[in-house]
Amino acid sequence: PYEHEVKDLLSRMTVEEKLGQLQQLTWTGDTGPGGGQTEEVERAARAGLLGSVLNLFGAEHTNTLQRMAVEESRLGIPLLFGQDVIHGFWTTFPIPLAEASSFDPAVVELDAEISAMETRSNGIRWTFSPMMDVTHEPRWGRIAESCGEDPYLNTVLAVAKIRGYQGDDLSAGHNVAACAKHFVAYGGAEGGRDYNTVDVSEQRLRNLYLPPFKASVDAGVATVMAAFNTVSGVPAHGNPHTMTGILKEEWGFDGVVVSDYTGVEELIAHGYAADAADAARLALMAGLDMEMVSTTIAAHGKRLLAEGRVTEDRLDDAVARILRLKFELGLFDDPYTDESQAIDEPTPQARAAAREAAGRSMVLMKNDGGVLPLGPGARSIAVVGPFAGHTDLHGTWAGPGCRRFPTVSILDGVRAAAPGATVTHAGADIEEAVAAARSADVTVVVVGEEPELSGEAAVRSEISLPDGQEQLIAAIAATGKPFAVVLLNGRPLTIGSWVDEVPALLEAWHPGIEAGNAVADVLFGKVNPGGKLPVTFPRALGQIPIYYNRENTGRPYSPDGAEQKYVSRYLDLADGPQFAFGHGLSYTTFTTGRPRLDRETVTVDELERGAHVEVLVSVTNTGDRTGDEVVQLYVHDPVASIAQPVRRLRGFRRVTLEPGRTTQVRFTLGADDLGFWTNDPSGCFVVEPGRFDLYAGTDSLADARCTLTVVRS
Ligand code: IFM
Repeated sequence: PYEHEVKDLLSRMTVEEKLGQLQQLTWTGDTGPGGGQTEEVERAARAGLLGSVLNLFGAEHTNTLQRMAVEESRLGIPLLFGQDVIHGFWTTFPIPLAEASSFDPAVVELDAEISAMETRSNGIRWTFSPMMDVTHEPRWGRIAESCGEDPYLNTVLAVAKIRGYQGDDLSAGHNVAACAKHFVAYGGAEGGRDYNTVDVSEQRLRNLYLPPFKASVDAGVATVMAAFNTVSGVPAHGNPHTMTGILKEEWGFDGVVVSDYTGVEELIAHGYAADAADAARLALMAGLDMEMVSTTIAAHGKRLLAEGRVTEDRLDDAVARILRLKFELGLFDDPYTDESQAIDEPTPQARAAAREAAGRSMVLMKNDGGVLPLGPGARSIAVVGPFAGHTDLHGTWAGPGCRRFPTVSILDGVRAAAPGATVTHAGADIEEAVAAARSADVTVVVVGEEPELSGEAAVRSEISLPDGQEQLIAAIAATGKPFAVVLLNGRPLTIGSWVDEVPALLEAWHPGIEAGNAVADVLFGKVNPGGKLPVTFPRALGQIPIYYNRENTGRPYSPDGAEQKYVSRYLDLADGPQFAFGHGLSYTTFTTGRPRLDRETVTVDELERGAHVEVLVSVTNTGDRTGDEVVQLYVHDPVASIAQPVRRLRGFRRVTLEPGRTTQVRFTLGADDLGFWTNDPSGCFVVEPGRFDLYAGTDSLADARCTLTVVRS
């Protein structure tokens, strides 16, 4: 579509105008156009030397700048306004890692739909989301923005989010273009240190990091953002293998690849480009289409072209991709935003959706002795801890809403949910908190991490609860009174040392604008928690990286054996995680049956021609309340030409069941689920014959098993 229009425009553009389309500049300062700090952007817009603007929002502001581009520039090509709308614009939803805990694509899709509506009504048609960086690194602050350690979960949720942002028509007035980021392997940064080196085999690249991106391209994602890291020595911003070879040629991506901020210029610091001109050449010729913030391509492109160091074809291709996106977004038909329709605060419906999303995202990690849910017997409740009265629980990369709309505190949420109870409050002071706990029937201890401790460039070398909060928990435990701990954090924490003292533990992550109400919904049982961990919680820092989808070693540790010396383990630590991937309890109980197959044998040929095997798993609510369970299906290929992970999630379904009810969950497995990518750099996916073990249950340790045999023919 739009090939004719794009060609026509291209034929009329000067080299400078073409290079201008490849440039995105950022807006600085709080004012709209005319504010003084913004002259460079306005000048470029008027001259037709600018493709896109980052971080200017508001229908009026964007319209003013748009008018300069459309009415004053020679060709009147509209600007594309972009912004990071990661988990909400005005209405902050839970952080992505939290939403991943819902194991519910509908949660993510609705967040994206509401975010798109608010964003678009404020003049922005492009969001830099979803982030789909699979990671094994809890030290890395950006784990908060990802969907955790599993490629399949990241894939399903990324596709749902893209559907929510883009709908099926980019030009519709409530949709925005999405951006699959960061391409690629950013989650593999060594030591979890942001922007750090990633040295990755081709098979791991393709089996672990690429699947969410491939699925996003198949789902029609409009744009892709390059990653800050190197990929096996070659920075992603100048990497022809990933950006052109895989993304554009192998997958046929016809959208726009944008840099991550000054990522093009950073090719110099990486030790890959000699200077700014070299960086521009390397990035453009590797397949990058738009440069964010740094200006190397715009500054040096003309000379590089004249010297034959970049090709006209590549430049025209990049420009064509950007123009096509602008046509698809309807910018040429109507470049402006209706100022009378601008949404300027969270609507009650949006708040309700955010509250429900947060409730569905919470994970009940532990609940001994039934402390939770708090019942009518709890007539006096102490809400204590440094985060009890906190009103900034938006989490990292929150949209502009976080500066205008405080979150509901946990204290206020509890007060609203228990109007008949006496609710007392103490902050971080241990003595005050203990006094409050002693005189209450039950205590809610609210601890966690400030939002600034996770997100970009927010890496921790130590991931326990900061600032003496473990002592607070120990002091409350010493009172001998019942209590529950609510965790508000942006990453998995090491909670090994105090978990035994805690009767009930609720992982609420950074829950967004409705935080307190959503936490109270779960504490009082209005919402029965059904979330599951999308990441492994380690026992100790020294275990990192620890993840469920690991490969076996030649000397695996066996939990059955007593003394084992020459096996893969730590001498000073019990084996395995503190809490496993997929773990999460409910106020009711569930059992799942053995997985059952519709056929026990399938041929490679059949699979390659698109055949599927059906797997049925029964799940029963064996408790006395309605609740949610996430039935999970894992695959293991025990003998393969590339050693396979001990388990791989290949299906999950969140179901709601009344007490005593049973349902059958149906999964299908095809070639994608049973095969794997080899180390062939040109992309080779194989399904190998042999026995496959299928495990089903309620977490990644599930041991109900059946086997499927794949035969050659
Ligand atoms: O989209 C982000 C990216 O994830 C991190 N660097 C800045 C970009 C634009 O704000």
